[in-house]
Amino acid sequence: MIWQAEDIYLDYSNMMAEVIGDEHGITFEEIEGIRDKAGEVHRRVQHERGDDKLPFLNLPYQEGIGEIKCVVDDLRGSAHTLVVLGIGGSALGGRALIAALGHPFHNLLPAEVRKGPRVFFLDNIDPDTITGLLDVLDLSQTVVNVISKSGSTIETLSHFFLFLSLLNGRLGPDWRKRVVVTTDPSNGPLRRLAEEEGLVSFSTPPGVEGRFSVLTPVGLLPAAFIGIDIEGLLDGAALTDKWCREEELEANPALLNAALQYLAHVKKVKGISVMMPYADSLREVADWYRQLWAESLGKKKDVQGRLVYVGPTPVKALGVTDQHSQLQLYLEGPYDKVITFMALGSFSHFLKIPEGGSWGEETAYLEGKSLNELMEAERRATEFVLTKNSRSNCTIYLKELNPRTLGGLFYLLEVQTAFAGGLYGINPFDQPAVEEGKRLTCGMMGRRGFEGEGEEIRGWIKGRNVYKVPR
Ligand code: PA5
Repeated sequence: MIWQAEDIYLDYSNMMAEVIGDEHGITFEEIEGIRDKAGEVHRRVQHERGDDKLPFLNLPYQEGIGEIKCVVDDLRGSAHTLVVLGIGGSALGGRALIAALGHPFHNLLPAEVRKGPRVFFLDNIDPDTITGLLDVLDLSQTVVNVISKSGSTIETLSHFFLFLSLLNGRLGPDWRKRVVVTTDPSNGPLRRLAEEEGLVSFSTPPGVEGRFSVLTPVGLLPAAFIGIDIEGLLDGAALTDKWCREEELEANPALLNAALQYLAHVKKVKGISVMMPYADSLREVADWYRQLWAESLGKKKDVQGRLVYVGPTPVKALGVTDQHSQLQLYLEGPYDKVITFMALGSFSHFLKIPEGGSWGEETAYLEGKSLNELMEAERRATEFVLTKNSRSNCTIYLKELNPRTLGGLFYLLEVQTAFAGGLYGINPFDQPAVEEGKRLTCGMMGRRGFEGEGEEIRGWIKGRNVYKVPR
């Protein structure tokens, strides 16, 4: 049971009852049972797309790529380092792109061979990390790309003000030439600052939430800095868009996988969704996906406002590393997981274990084998043993990792998330809990208009301070 196109396929056989049995596998009757609902979700998404309510779906056809390339060309020559400031959806996509398509040790390469500046993403406010980063930066050769859709996220603004002051101290008025802002086209403090100071800026498309924004300047600008073919990413997404428009469940990989993951959760009680790439380059893609799936589908209320408390729990793992860390649980623990492997048909390099490099007969079987072969053997063995033990799993397979296949993969997983939201009956495009967290933090930090939130937490903390450390 495979959905297949030229460069990518989804093998879902090992989620099906035919292969892993009725107790844990999805039956054909269950697929039939969801067909109408999935069709309805698909029609609704197409309809909303027609009404311009889901702008992320049209990102493969966006204009403005030339502008990104122009800015990057201007800055690349003089920038030794790019520091990206952002959090959540404003960081994870760009980071995933660079990890997937850049050199695995990009930042450590000598400047003459490196494709573009060193790139650091700051998506936490740990003072030790930031101080540590400053130790390795030459501010006179650093470009800062600050990314925040709202333009008011406290963590990003805090980083940014720190860097503004440092750049100003080092470069004087020229700091303005070292900052690129990515934010809402008209609202928010960052947009105001960009306009007042005449900074180079890009817009986050209105209506595209952070976690759906990897194929906007949020992800494309940092990617372009290290020479990633950003048009190729969009071409791949456009190709995937064709499949995701298909009405027929089995012809539409995003709808099909949304339906399978949903059925595994609600019919077979598999509320944990593990994404396990067998390639280091896709590790950050699993991290990006974890946010996409969690923030989009974890909801208290359905679209009618009823309390539902739904959402699968996404977990990221890495093959083969986590075979020595998580596999024990996946294989012998509770039957509460679906594992999605991501596999590559080929790696960019072929690495052979040298002949004559082993010590004696016991290890001689490794001689002349390749690490590529070992990776494939381990993935297939893991798939086999999970399946044999009726552990639900599927594989997303990319013939190779390149801008087209990666762009297609991002788009596929985003559309899948939109369809899954429809099946769960929730709105995958809001994040009320994240917004609440932002309000509470503003209250704690004394932002005007948020005093009530601050007082509430302080009162709560005071009430909790009843325990004394025993002396
Ligand atoms: O996906 C989302 O919408 C969130 O994760 C945001 O990206 C995150 O909270 C950061 O918000 P902003 O881009 O407004 O700074």
